[in-house]
Amino acid sequence: MKNNRQKFLIPALLISGFFMPGVAVAADGVEVSHLGPTNTLVKVTGDENFILFPVQEIYEDDARINVLVDGKIEETIYVRLARTKTDYSVPYDLSRFKGKNVMFDIVTNQTRNTVRDAKDDVCWDGMILTDTFDTTNTEVKWRPAYHHTPLYGWMNDPNGMFYKDGVWHLYYQKNPYGSKWQNMTWGHSTSTDFINWEHQPDVLRPDGLGAIFSGSAVIDHNNTAGFGEDAIIALYTSAGTSQMQSLAHSNDNGQTFEVYPGNPIITLESEARDPNMFWNEKTGEWNLVLAHALEKENLFFTSPDLINWTLSGTFGKGLGAQEGVWECPDLFELVVPGTNDKKWVLICNINPGGPFGGSSIQYFIGDFDGKTFTSDTNPDGTVPTKWLDYGKDNYALVSWSDAPDNRRATIGWMSNWQYAADVPTTQFRSANTLPREMELFVDADGELRVASVPSPELEKLRGKVVAQASDKNIGQKELHYKLPADGMAEIDLTFEASDADLLTLTIDNAEGEKVVMKYDAKNHTMSFDRRESGVVDFSDKFPAITTSPTFEKDGKISLRIFIDRSSIELFGNNGQFVMTNLVFPNNPYTNLSVQSKNGNAHLVDLKIYSIDLR
Ligand code: FRU
Repeated sequence: MKNNRQKFLIPALLISGFFMPGVAVAADGVEVSHLGPTNTLVKVTGDENFILFPVQEIYEDDARINVLVDGKIEETIYVRLARTKTDYSVPYDLSRFKGKNVMFDIVTNQTRNTVRDAKDDVCWDGMILTDTFDTTNTEVKWRPAYHHTPLYGWMNDPNGMFYKDGVWHLYYQKNPYGSKWQNMTWGHSTSTDFINWEHQPDVLRPDGLGAIFSGSAVIDHNNTAGFGEDAIIALYTSAGTSQMQSLAHSNDNGQTFEVYPGNPIITLESEARDPNMFWNEKTGEWNLVLAHALEKENLFFTSPDLINWTLSGTFGKGLGAQEGVWECPDLFELVVPGTNDKKWVLICNINPGGPFGGSSIQYFIGDFDGKTFTSDTNPDGTVPTKWLDYGKDNYALVSWSDAPDNRRATIGWMSNWQYAADVPTTQFRSANTLPREMELFVDADGELRVASVPSPELEKLRGKVVAQASDKNIGQKELHYKLPADGMAEIDLTFEASDADLLTLTIDNAEGEKVVMKYDAKNHTMSFDRRESGVVDFSDKFPAITTSPTFEKDGKISLRIFIDRSSIELFGNNGQFVMTNLVFPNNPYTNLSVQSKNGNAHLVDLKIYSIDLR
């Protein structure tokens, strides 16, 4: 193919037009044949690396595109092809089909009466070939700088994370062809410092069994699966007409994966997804926990080889929060502080039904005998429902396999299914939370709980101390401190409520956009009010006050608050209480004020750090 063609020169404007409104030009190397009001064939005759597909986000219906390579369907993708206006264009990678004939058989769902109408769609002229495209950040105001975000397009759950040879691998649910959920693919990023992430090529794309939903990955140190010593084995949900569990392996440290020809490896008669597996030292077997989503329970399996799995137990039916579907489970052991004992923690993401609406992370503490999990109970025999994060924007949190030093490092998706597709960013949709270490602690009532401690690497982010104070009285009159001007900060603050009832921390900007956090010394709670935090009107579920128990009784609170342009993560008393919330201020917050009510409080220590992105 690809003879008889002139080299197509892409105007600079068009290249940098990636994810900007496209410019319609007749494209060389692309032949468009309209076959009917809803069917168009697009033939590639040039040999550039990418074709751009223009997208208009408002459409509910995606066009279905069968990618034909030498006449065979290679894959089917779904794209909101632009009809009247191009919001942005997405690249489709042609480089993997070099030397072959590529055609796109496109069925648009948009109702058109005649072929002539269909021809008017702006997408056809915008389908151009290019060797490069510009991914410069166009979301300067709101793209977090020290959180992982996809280079472009939609992201939801973190997947298949493992640590090997000094590299943290993070895979994630990705739509490479738009900023809304679709075409679930495993995107991939890596980090050696747990702060800066490098984007890597996608590893698993939808195939004949369906889209690639969430899952986990392990290092097969002893070659139990037969793919080689230290092969990386990933298990994920194939989501086609139904959901099944599939396997893929990697012999190049997770850069590329080969899908197992015998997939699926687990089938059930009802919806189950998000397999999470780990090696059980005690039993010398692999264990797997799977979300039995609609039954609102978790299933447990055992395996000698990661391929053949036997159902060994279930947990959760009728227990804990039951409003939403159960998704993305995780199961791990943690040390009980002050003892040599360990307890098992079952992470159970649910959606909806979180304490403030929508998505949230529930967990249970108990025992796991290698076959099934049993939860600790309240004195009256009931199973407590515990929440890991009292903000609205931490979901699908799971942990890394093989993290060093017995760390249980985790990361979540920093959004909420209630409005994830409506947040006011386009080039990328959603970030991950900061990485957090899971640890057990005993609260002031003697209850065992899980803390989310900011990962130790994050201390390296600290730049200059832009404001500090110590040993100060906090009264009715506000104390003011400056925040760094670039919308990024770590605020470290320790106070004692003393005889005050209420302590208020306000973070705001000159426009009066503000986040108000209140510590209630009588009820031992901390609230986070983002109702006037900036742009909040894209969803009526977004403006909200979230409230967390602080799990102490003495009124002594230390906070680490991380601000990164469009997110605020508050870690209280070393992660014993946590609130993760998105915010979209029109300009960075520049001021912190502190004030108390009905009595004086004591500011023990305050440091505000700028963020140093080395
Ligand atoms: C959770 C979830 C998972 C599923 C994935 C699909 O957010 O619904 O259960 O595997 O997203 O993208």
